[in-house]
Amino acid sequence: MTKKTCAFYDERDCKQILLSAEEIDSITTRLAQAIENTYKDSEKQLVLVVILKGSMPFATDLMRKIRKPLQLEFMKVSSYGAGTKASGEIRIHLDLLREDLPDCDVLIVEDIIDSGRTLSRLTQLLQNRNVNSVKTCTLLDKPSRREVPFVPDFCGAQIPDEFVIGYGLDYAEDYRNLPFVGVLKPEIYS
Ligand code: IMP
Ligand code: MG
Repeated sequence: MTKKTCAFYDERDCKQILLSAEEIDSITTRLAQAIENTYKDSEKQLVLVVILKGSMPFATDLMRKIRKPLQLEFMKVSSYGAGTKASGEIRIHLDLLREDLPDCDVLIVEDIIDSGRTLSRLTQLLQNRNVNSVKTCTLLDKPSRREVPFVPDFCGAQIPDEFVIGYGLDYAEDYRNLPFVGVLKPEIYS
């Protein structure tokens, strides 16, 4: 049977559920409170910059729990992995098109930090555009995988070095719609 004909193929491809929907819900509540608290005295416009595609479910849940006016922007980036020509460089597929960034507090919303390359380059890039402030919020962090030093300002959960799927995270574009975060069975990708 191909995976597309099996209604529950997604869940069966997980060897373990790392974060249930309920756990994700309490994580987003905690993060939203921390974010509110951090920006409570700022008079600048708060702009969430959502990194497509993986951060979409996380961002939609998170933003609805932040009780403060905010605006939403999107960026789509990919990083060149190890062994490619421009190590540490990121490729921007969709950029921010606004001119009021100096009047904004930018909060980058990411699904997961692995090598640290994407968020460290993206943070630098936005700082060079003179935004009022740049901070980062990630749902997941795999600190043991770091290739460049990077510490997020807000982090939902640190996880071990395993490939995870669900709640926006994909393997070859599949599994993004799972309502939980699971560890993909190694036999699926090896
Ligand atoms: P970094 O630049 O290595 O930190 O890359 C982070 C990006 O790699 C994330 O935005 C994801 O798109 C992807 N990624 C890293 N680890 C995983 C994982 O376990 N599952 C799915 N995507 C991942
Ligand atoms: Mg991503």
